[in-house]
Amino acid sequence: MPGEWCVRIAAGGRKNIVLPKTLKPSFIVKYLDQYVVGQDDAKKIVAVAVYSHFRKIARGRVDKTLIMKSNVLLIGSSGTGKTLLCATLSNVLDVPFVTAEATSLAQTRYVNEEIEAVLQRLVDKADGNIEKAQNGIVFIDEIDKLKATDGEQRGSSGESVQHALLKIMEGSQVKLADGRYIDTTGILFICGGAFVGLDEIIKSQTHGYGFIATSQGDNQRILDRLNTRVKPTDLFTYGLIPEFTGRLPIIARFHDLTRELMVRIMMEPKNSLYNQFRDIFKDEGVELTVEPRVFEQIAELATEYKTGARSLRGIFEELLTPILFVVPDNPDIQRVVITTLFSEPSYFRKPAPASAPISS
Ligand SMILES: Nc1ncnc2c1ncn2[C@@H]1O[C@H](COP(=O)(O)OP(=O)(O)O)[C@@H](O)[C@H]1O
Ligand SMILES: [Mg+2]
Repeated sequence: MPGEWCVRIAAGGRKNIVLPKTLKPSFIVKYLDQYVVGQDDAKKIVAVAVYSHFRKIARGRVDKTLIMKSNVLLIGSSGTGKTLLCATLSNVLDVPFVTAEATSLAQTRYVNEEIEAVLQRLVDKADGNIEKAQNGIVFIDEIDKLKATDGEQRGSSGESVQHALLKIMEGSQVKLADGRYIDTTGILFICGGAFVGLDEIIKSQTHGYGFIATSQGDNQRILDRLNTRVKPTDLFTYGLIPEFTGRLPIIARFHDLTRELMVRIMMEPKNSLYNQFRDIFKDEGVELTVEPRVFEQIAELATEYKTGARSLRGIFEELLTPILFVVPDNPDIQRVVITTLFSEPSYFRKPAPASAPISS
């Protein structure tokens, strides 16, 4: 039911037909800011898309013929926050959210069954409530791997997966294993992919935009923006079929993470690595201090691994594992300070009581 989303989200029990005033794009972005570092353009684009999407649902006007649904395409290297952004988004919206990988859809001959299973998971996330699931979000990752030219031998071709996805993205009735139907019209589909090599395609297809005078700085900026914009034709050249790209009118680009951003990722978010580990140490009665230099060194290493922010946790945990091994056996340790990645941490202990026997 279109109205139900509004009613449900307007906590407090009062039936409310309008969307809560707080759930504006700016509110969504502020919420995302607490967990996703950087990627400001993408956050804004997604927030506005989601806001408009749910507005349309609230008015009961998402209709295949009336208003085309604006599904979203996120383009960016691996580990730059695409999945994190979607997951965080589903928290703030309080709607069911599932992710699926396009590659695993392509590995089976039974694409439709696989898609059905994804929708079933969405229903499960909504505690079996189909209506709730019908307003959910489905994130389909690795969409760039569905190139039309990739003729998979054992599975389905990328192109046939695109066709299958196209159908549910447009909005259709899908029969679930339990015999019930789910209508995908109100489901927001967000697709993601790294699209390695897309920049070369964009550059090779750059238009002159001769009508803009390039003599002024401002105009040059506009020109640069137009020329770095992903056009449907670029995606077509990349290997997505035109009907499919047509269903993804909103495109948000994720930037590669700089070292500074990686440092911020480790320190700033509410659930940042640093905060998580400080909490673990606090439970042991120990104050953990990791100096900024260490985070810079970790970011440096992670940059070399070229997996975005993905390797940060591994490196950080490797650093802390030996310390976490020592601390529980030594209740006199009060504080641990790590000043660089390549030297032993300093342990600060409680002064031993004068009468206590001296132990090594
Ligand atoms: N912009 C970001 N802000 C905060 N954490 C991030 C960001 N990008 C990546 N991460 C961290 O890296 C992990 C992997 O990111 P993910 O969102 O799965 O990347 P992607 O989907 O773009 O490949 C996340 O779980 C998160 O811990
Ligand atoms: Mg991902």
